[in-house]
Amino acid sequence: MPNLIIQAISKRFGQTVALEDVSLTLPEAKLICFLGPSGCGKTTLLRLIAGLEQASSGKIFLGETELSAIAAHKRNIGMVFQSFALFPHLNVANNIAYGLKIRGVDKLTRLKRAEELLELVQLSGLGKRHISQLSGGQRQRIAMARALALEPDLFLLDEPLSALDAKLREAMQVELKLLQQRLGITTIVVTHDQQEAMTMADVIVVMGENRVQQIGAPLEIYHKPKNRFVADFIGSNNFIPALVKDTQSVSALGSIFEIALPKSLKVGAQVALSIRPEKLQLYSSEPPKSSKLAGTIKFIRDLGSTVETFVEVAGHELSVKGIQHLATGDKVWLSFDPADAVILEV
Ligand SMILES: Nc1ncnc2c1ncn2[C@@H]1O[C@H](COP(=O)(O)OP(=O)(O)O)[C@@H](O)[C@H]1O
Ligand SMILES: [Mg+2]
Repeated sequence: MPNLIIQAISKRFGQTVALEDVSLTLPEAKLICFLGPSGCGKTTLLRLIAGLEQASSGKIFLGETELSAIAAHKRNIGMVFQSFALFPHLNVANNIAYGLKIRGVDKLTRLKRAEELLELVQLSGLGKRHISQLSGGQRQRIAMARALALEPDLFLLDEPLSALDAKLREAMQVELKLLQQRLGITTIVVTHDQQEAMTMADVIVVMGENRVQQIGAPLEIYHKPKNRFVADFIGSNNFIPALVKDTQSVSALGSIFEIALPKSLKVGAQVALSIRPEKLQLYSSEPPKSSKLAGTIKFIRDLGSTVETFVEVAGHELSVKGIQHLATGDKVWLSFDPADAVILEV
């Protein structure tokens, strides 16, 4: 199966810009997450791929084939919506086999295929049940089975787990990931939940402000965010105001840090030094390090499994994660490995 290529897509609804110049090459046979806050255009992009919307400009290709020139019902795409949208008057098997019936597949073949798909989503034997007799999680699995019945080239899911409670959602994330791996179908899952994306995705497309902000493997995006938006949206980060001193160091909160800097930055430029709370080391006495920050503990949030310590450094509050044996009011020192810091333009 070929790559999905999105080429300079823009979409407007009247005055509203839903997508602005989106270009992406999405790898085949992988699970891709479109991740971003509400309103950034995730659903619109998914609907454009499915053919449920027309782009204002730009094209979409599946390999050499121009998908955007093909009518929605001829695209061979399986889609699962946020609201499961199952047919309440049909039983489970007939829901799953609905698309097959439309295509004129005979009843025996349909029921056999429905049973195979039930097995695939681990609900064997439930074919005769009524939709109303299913739990939320079961309904969502049926919606997935129905979308997969026609062996689609692309499997698209729009916030498929958002209606489920937290525990079930986490279990379903793993299940969906394993299902995608078994089937090897190119799958796109829309989510606003970064942990969900980190759990499932081979590739994450971070969207914000109706554009693509970054595309990459989950850990690449986590450790090497390209801009402030991504660094802010994925996990938590401390942003420390800093000044570029020379080609390989910045000054921040009264200390100098030697850090690899993007070449585009000029000496004297204002930047943000972005560092994860778990990458800051906390000391109760001054460590023998050339680069460090001195501060005072303002607050400790102890959640049992993790402890978050808020340290005030030169009027700035920094968050540090890790087990500590310290108290509010203690004088402390912070340091970090420069390789863990990211310098971002502001
Ligand atoms: N049918 C529509 N008519 C008008 N505006 C729309 C329509 N669909 C989406 N939009 C607007 O386009 C933007 C992107 O929406 P959407 O793709 O639904 O975002 P997301 O799924 O990321 O929350 C929003 O500002 C939304 O209000
Ligand atoms: Mg949406």
